Amino acid sequence: MLDLHCHILPGLDDGAADVSVSIEMAKAFVADGVQVVACTPHILPGLYHNSGPQILQATSALQQVLDREGIPLKLVAGADNHITQSFVAELRSGHLLSLAGTRYVLVEPPHHVVPPRLEDLFFSLLIEGFVPILTHPERLTWIEQHYQTVKRLAQAGVWMQLTSGSLLGAFGRQARYWGERMLDDGLVHILATDAHNVTRRPPNLSQGRAAALKRVGAVEAERLVITRPQAALRNEDPVNWPSPEYEISASQVGYNDAPKAGSNVAKPAHTPSDRTSAEGGLVGRLRAVLGLG
Ligand SMILES: [Fe+2]
Repeated sequence: MLDLHCHILPGLDDGAADVSVSIEMAKAFVADGVQVVACTPHILPGLYHNSGPQILQATSALQQVLDREGIPLKLVAGADNHITQSFVAELRSGHLLSLAGTRYVLVEPPHHVVPPRLEDLFFSLLIEGFVPILTHPERLTWIEQHYQTVKRLAQAGVWMQLTSGSLLGAFGRQARYWGERMLDDGLVHILATDAHNVTRRPPNLSQGRAAALKRVGAVEAERLVITRPQAALRNEDPVNWPSPEYEISASQVGYNDAPKAGSNVAKPAHTPSDRTSAEGGLVGRLRAVLGLG
């Protein structure tokens, strides 16, 4: 498996506190069946002042440590890029980082407020030829009020990254419900750990995969943790990859955690027409029609 979101680099953010924790995390990843990990520390102005060149350097330094220790884990550089006003320019300049230098880029919105012009940012990234990956939408406190926005973004070609722990209940009832709901609605492209340590937020991709499998079946579960992450790191065009699929509807499985009391969110009634048919995304088709490659 490949994990495209984790905080394994030592001392750069609230992830691994030092290199001994990084080594423990690396061992845990290997034991869990993960061969490739993207090192994605926060880049968050005012809190985590990381930058592209520093992350690239820290990634190769940690790779040397793992090689010396004989731990068979391949690291690639990336970043947990929080939304800023000049996001696209900072990505072009190399201050923000895509995953392994590809067109695929993690984008983390604020957890408690919807930023102004959220959709504009994602659309401008798509038009620029990037594939934004929205990090753990199921954990955003505003997902309930803005689920249609999430759907629109997915339909336009934005990839959605679910966090393993959400499906395991590690982030509470709401995150679990929305994680399951998004899987059922065919809105999830990849599953990642967002691991920060080996205790409270550990490498747990195989458990997450098993939880996802119960809802979407083995083929789609494999796409979440192997096929699509691999395609991303090879910088392949997303139009070549199938849209997310669900196999088992909520009506058959039920939800582990219903929305909080008083929620007016209706449970989904699945029909094939409910499905997201991203097919590479509306923006991708628009780009093709306009000859933008
Ligand atoms: Fe993260």
